[in-house]
Formats: sequence, C-alpha cells, structure tokens
Amino acid sequence: MEEVVRFTVNGEAVSVRAGAGWNLLRVLREGLGLTGAKEGCGAGECGACTVLVDGAAVNACLFPAPEAEGRSVVTIEGLAAREEAGGVGRLHPIQQAFVDHGAVQCGFCTPGMVLSAKALLDRSPEPDEAEIRTALAGNICRCTGYTQILEAVRAAAQARREVPRG
Ligand code: FES
Ligand code: FES
Repeated sequence: MEEVVRFTVNGEAVSVRAGAGWNLLRVLREGLGLTGAKEGCGAGECGACTVLVDGAAVNACLFPAPEAEGRSVVTIEGLAAREEAGGVGRLHPIQQAFVDHGAVQCGFCTPGMVLSAKALLDRSPEPDEAEIRTALAGNICRCTGYTQILEAVRAAAQARREVPRG
C-alpha cells in the first residue's frame, strides 16, 4: 500500500509517495529525482547508496521509507553550494578534495564516500588514519585502491580546520 512520507531533504520539506516496501533510496531516486545516491548491491554491502539521516551516514537501500518521516536527509546534491546562493560550480570542500587528490575515477562510489567522510568530519574534525578507514569501511571502491580517497579525506579535514564550514 502506498503511503506519503514527509521529511526534509537538503533543507527542503518534501512530501512524497512511497510504494509498499520502498526504501529511502527508491524514494530519493524515483520519487524525488535525486539520483546522486547510487544503487550498487542493494543489500547494504557497497555503500554507494549512502546518505545522511539526521547527520549519520546510512545505507539508503536498507532504510525503510516510512522511517524517514520527520527526519532530515542530506544527499550529495545538497553539498555543493546552491545556484541561488551564488554558488554555481562551487564544490563542497570534501568534494573538491576528492577531485584534487584523484579520488574520483568512475565516480560510482563517490557520493557515498563523500557523505561518509562528511559524517565523520562532522563528529570528529581531526580523525586519525584508523578512524578514517573505519568510517569508510562500508564504502567499496573498485577503481582507486583507496589511497587517494584516504588522502582526500585527510586533506578535507585539514582544510576544514583552516577554514571551518559545513
Ligand atoms: S546499494 Fe546500498 S549498500 Fe550497496
Ligand atoms: S571511483 Fe569507481 S568505484 Fe570508486
């Protein structure tokens, strides 16, 4: 049975129909046209579908749509500065660090990686190597071998300490 789920996504209140058994990933992609979160495994193994729910990184493929009710969801579309805020083309510092450090190849894993990194840096601004590895352990990348990704997250943490921002 279809139901309407109300929550905020990237700061905007939305009200969206979800079919029976839909997960948050399907609501975001099919209900709202937010296709930044990817479906890789669909089973909680790859992290390509990672989004933030109330600031925590979750696998949207495992997150039942009704549980989003009243929550705050952030997707990769919510990170870059918005056009209406004069931010055309301005990436979030974590996104920029991924670009600068060659941590993006096919890009399929990148939205999830960036959001896992954001959740980490929001709760732990000076993570050590082990913390970064643990935070990204649920995100699989088949392209980069992880070294560049780890470097990017370290650089983003450093940049954030120098110029604090969301
Ligand atoms: S698609 Fe959700 S963890 Fe792989
Ligand atoms: S860049 Fe291709 S899967 Fe990570």
